[in-house]
Amino acid sequence: MRTSFLSFHVPEIGEQDIAAVADALRSGWVTAGPRVKEFEAQFARFTGAAHAVAVNSGTAALHLALEAAGIKAGDEVLVPTMTFAATAEVVIQLGARPVLVDCVPDTLNVDPAALERAVTPRTKAIIPVHFAGHPCDMDAILELAAAKKLTVVEDAAHALPARWRGKMVGTIGDLTCFSFYATKTITTGEGGMITTEDAAWADRMRMMSLHGISKDAWKRYTAEGSWRYEIIAPGYKYNMTDIAAALGLSQLVRCDDFLRARIRCRKLYDQGFAGCCAIQTPISQDDVEHAWHLYVIRLDLEQLRIDRDQVIELLKQRNIGVAVHFIPLHLHPYYRDNYGYTPADFPNANAAFERIISLPIYPRLSDAEVGEVVDAVVGITREYRR
Ligand SMILES: Cc1ncc(COP(=O)(O)O)c(C=O)c1O
Repeated sequence: MRTSFLSFHVPEIGEQDIAAVADALRSGWVTAGPRVKEFEAQFARFTGAAHAVAVNSGTAALHLALEAAGIKAGDEVLVPTMTFAATAEVVIQLGARPVLVDCVPDTLNVDPAALERAVTPRTKAIIPVHFAGHPCDMDAILELAAAKKLTVVEDAAHALPARWRGKMVGTIGDLTCFSFYATKTITTGEGGMITTEDAAWADRMRMMSLHGISKDAWKRYTAEGSWRYEIIAPGYKYNMTDIAAALGLSQLVRCDDFLRARIRCRKLYDQGFAGCCAIQTPISQDDVEHAWHLYVIRLDLEQLRIDRDQVIELLKQRNIGVAVHFIPLHLHPYYRDNYGYTPADFPNANAAFERIISLPIYPRLSDAEVGEVVDAVVGITREYRR
């Protein structure tokens, strides 16, 4: 058994990241400035998107994308129940209603048929979440969006880099939102990015990320800038800092290396769990390139004498850190009490929730550590077999 605790996640911070951040600090420009511009340009190049707008979180990215798409009071937005708080809260902050939708049983991505059933005359947008880094069925979602005139705002917090039928996530829907939170596939500490093909939306989001004040407000303290500014709309304080962008630039160049390292972990897990029938491993469909942000196993509870929570507790006792993605939104008091959702409305998400465990998957995880996780999980399922 491990003698020290194995963290669920450790960000991949190297000396080059530390040097990049130190350079930013020494430059005398710490808030949004030239490094943010450069990170936006490099991110657009990496994803193949026409425009990229850097912000200070994935949540801010979602909020600005929906605002740019014109979501307002009285509108409905389709949101998967299998997601994090951020995806739905921004809808509510704009005065609109998040309509929760069940997932499909295999990838746990939003169910296109359930999306279609949830559309009403008030529906204005869909937020597909690429769960764990596996792209959603974008053909079905784009077809529905075109038929019903809905804006597609992708929540790609898990999906850098990922492809759907050869197309890079970030170039598929109308607007795509990424997160650079500490646990994500690249990190800026806190941060986010929105990509879009639409120049007017990019301009709007850039302006709204800095108080809704006129274009290039960040330049007002430079020689080329002007002290004079105009407030065009009541915006937000969502701009990224140059310190964060320096880290982002340094991380982005290793994004593909990080993915290869996560794929190595995935393969080792798949091999390790191959003979263990109480564990269902995550799938990757043939027509996608999965980002492997998360490796989510499912327990076959019928074969076990203990439940998922007890398995997690036993893993903790064996010094293995794990997580659960996600507690579906409809099970949280706010959504249950304010919108009247019940577990019966979301049979697939409910069934999955009781069985899922996210295992550590990150570049720094050694083959031996993956082996320790496998041994602990398999050992527990053998010991508590029915
Ligand atoms: C699916 C999903 N969407 C949005 C977010 C929000 O991103 P951030 O923490 O950068 O605000 C997260 C996680 O943090 C997430 O997992």
